[in-house]
Amino acid sequence: MTTTLLRGSILDFPDAAPNAAEIAEEHARHIEDGVLAIENGRVAGVLDVDAARAANWDVDGAVDHRGRLLIPGFVDAHVHFPQIDMIGAWGEQLIGWLERHTFPQEHRHAEPAFSQEQAGHFVDQLLAHGTTTAVCYATVHPGSVDALFEAARARGMRLVAGKVLMDRNAPPQLCDTAERGYEDSAALIERWHGLDRLTYAVTPRFAPTSTPEQLEAAGALCKRHPDVLMQTHLSENLGEIEWVKSLYPDRIDYTDVYDHFGLLGPGALFGHGIHLSAREREVLSASGSKVVFCPSSNLFLGSGLIDLDALDGAGVDVPIASDVGGGTSLSMLATAADGYKIAQLRGQRFDPFRALYQLTLGNARSLGMGAHIGNFEVGKEADLVVLDPQATPLLARRTRNCEALADLVFALMIFGDDRVVRETRLLGTRAGPALEPAQEVA
Ligand code: GUN
Ligand code: ZN
Repeated sequence: MTTTLLRGSILDFPDAAPNAAEIAEEHARHIEDGVLAIENGRVAGVLDVDAARAANWDVDGAVDHRGRLLIPGFVDAHVHFPQIDMIGAWGEQLIGWLERHTFPQEHRHAEPAFSQEQAGHFVDQLLAHGTTTAVCYATVHPGSVDALFEAARARGMRLVAGKVLMDRNAPPQLCDTAERGYEDSAALIERWHGLDRLTYAVTPRFAPTSTPEQLEAAGALCKRHPDVLMQTHLSENLGEIEWVKSLYPDRIDYTDVYDHFGLLGPGALFGHGIHLSAREREVLSASGSKVVFCPSSNLFLGSGLIDLDALDGAGVDVPIASDVGGGTSLSMLATAADGYKIAQLRGQRFDPFRALYQLTLGNARSLGMGAHIGNFEVGKEADLVVLDPQATPLLARRTRNCEALADLVFALMIFGDDRVVRETRLLGTRAGPALEPAQEVA
């Protein structure tokens, strides 16, 4: 058996932690000088350094990350892999941005070799940013899902993805049909769902690009495969909401469109949810559906400021996500920083511990993966990231005087991105290019 020991400042939220709305510093476990033991890709134990020596752990042979934070790998609950090379496209809000920038780029994924190259780059970029699990949109092409799952599987990554369903209001070469979308999705579920660390998500893009027949087919897929996830977009942009009203005049509101077709539930991830009514929040909460907060995208596309307090008040679970390429960074730290700024603009609070909880255990729980990832409980999959508070001159000076843990976490969140990621590990094994010689213990 191979044991890997990592020494550093260990920080996570154990399984006893409450949900996001109640999270505070006292729910975190922080061991300033700790040792994390990994065996066969799983967490075998966490001790402070004295206890580790007393237990005869080979502390002197541990990978030495003293002065750095060892935390569970980040989870990104909503990201579009085909948009990685058009991130930050200029000049439009949602619908114009889709038409002018997004659809042309997604069309390029009709070519499998192109999609494979993009998928490899995307997954490596996730890892470089400390993200070890992501919930991804592919394109309408089934080959793009194959490309992404193959890239994730080759790296041992836990990943969720789905083929976009889209049968109207998009360029014809990007449209499937209700029937073909169903068949292609069913075949992809058969091929990939539950293989190694991979999970499928039924993925109608959003109500405007699906006919009622296609949303019905998506509902049928979810019913037939109750353990797959479902992801779509909801109530992101005011023009979009008006458009949905005109396309689905018989429905009470946008949420009711998805509800009508059986798409709500604990496995349902609704991106954005900025402009929801109290009725919609109630329905989403009662069904256990999630509203995925995508702060950098919401700012970049000028979509609006989510009402976190109202969602908390309604008991809606709110995972957080980059939403690249509408979002402007794959970094979940940068994502949380934008979340903080949105809360500020609303006069609300987005506590650094809530943010860190949400990026790790909180998002894992939202995906129904809390038993497998999200913290360093013994037996969990050892996906982790090592953050260096000295990574940039600005951070080194800014964090020198951080006495409280909250200050350090907050500084990393406000100034952090891929530069602070010293290493990322999947199942205990270092991912991506090594930054310094490995010192693993046999
Ligand atoms: N709504 C429908 N498609 C998309 C997309 O690709 N990105 C975002 N942000 N919103 C969408
Ligand atoms: Zn999105």
